[in-house]
Amino acid sequence: MNIVLIGFMGSGKSTIAKCLSALLGISYVEMDDLVYQITACRNMREVFAKGGELLLRETEIQIAKEYAAKKNLILSTGGGIVLNKIALDYFTEKGAKVIFLKAPFETIAQRLKNDDTRPLFKEIEEAKKAYNFRLPLYLGYADEIVDTACRSPGEIALNIQKRISNGL
Ligand code: S3P
Repeated sequence: MNIVLIGFMGSGKSTIAKCLSALLGISYVEMDDLVYQITACRNMREVFAKGGELLLRETEIQIAKEYAAKKNLILSTGGGIVLNKIALDYFTEKGAKVIFLKAPFETIAQRLKNDDTRPLFKEIEEAKKAYNFRLPLYLGYADEIVDTACRSPGEIALNIQKRISNGL
């Protein structure tokens, strides 16, 4: 079974994927890193400069198609994967479990305040609008919702491990 971590930028997907991977002894995949490999870009700014958000979303579909067919992986997605139904459907159709890492916008804004790597988190009011728009999408796709505010990545990973051993 694959585990797909979803959540807004800065919700801790990558860090928690690493912790969970160590706990469960299975590999994790960082979807944004695969996007860089496929598009031959060094970072998200280059991806957006090369082909805009469309290039990111098309590449996500390509990755989802390939990786949904693999087994026992943790997939750390980009925060906008919920805008990409085709990509997420590849995973869910193959029985992947989707875990939403939930954090309040204020926590995220605090975490990302000095971050200049995310083209879609440049302007706080725009980011807040995107958060409010996406929240129901994250909730709609989630098999499990994990609150990440005020907990360490290790605690969150343990909590997810417990849910998995209880049959998720
Ligand atoms: C995006 C989130 C980013 C990255 C890209 C777009 C989004 O990933 O895929 O900048 O649309 O929310 P993280 O969630 O890992 O920051």
